[in-house]
Amino acid sequence: MNDSNRPANAASSDALIARARTAALAAYAPYSRFSVGCAIESVDGEIVVGANMENACYRLGICAEIAALTAAQQAFGLDKIARVAVAGGHVGPDGALAGNAPVTPCGGCRQAILEAAHVSGRDLEITSANGDGTEAIVSRISELIPLGFGPASLKDAG
Ligand code: THU
Repeated sequence: MNDSNRPANAASSDALIARARTAALAAYAPYSRFSVGCAIESVDGEIVVGANMENACYRLGICAEIAALTAAQQAFGLDKIARVAVAGGHVGPDGALAGNAPVTPCGGCRQAILEAAHVSGRDLEITSANGDGTEAIVSRISELIPLGFGPASLKDAG
């Protein structure tokens, strides 16, 4: 896979984190009280967002990254995904997302992002930010899920 090519009109890392932090404010997370937002930017600079959506049947909860991936699928297609930003924490007294620790995608979300990376042919950039928006870890999906099981892993299927 090639590196993601940033378009001329690409949002800065800070801008993509800001979108993820704002998206987290729409989270439905009454059980964990942990709000996560995800912003995905296309190669053309378009941005879509998602937030986690929990359920009384706990295991049916949906992660922010999955919500954003389905939004990206509709808005511009998985093949156009260039960058992903994630932020999580709690809603602070000022109504903004707050929290100290950067939120990296869970294992299941890494697997879903890996699929999009294969579709796009890019080693997707993932920014994992804390709730406060003051710290971020930038990595590639190949670092987050080394030796991942992808479409090519099915080549020996009957
Ligand atoms: N969560 C996400 O939305 N994305 C992740 O990558 C990690 C976890 C959500 C799921 C659940 O609603 C809450 O955070 C606590 O695990």
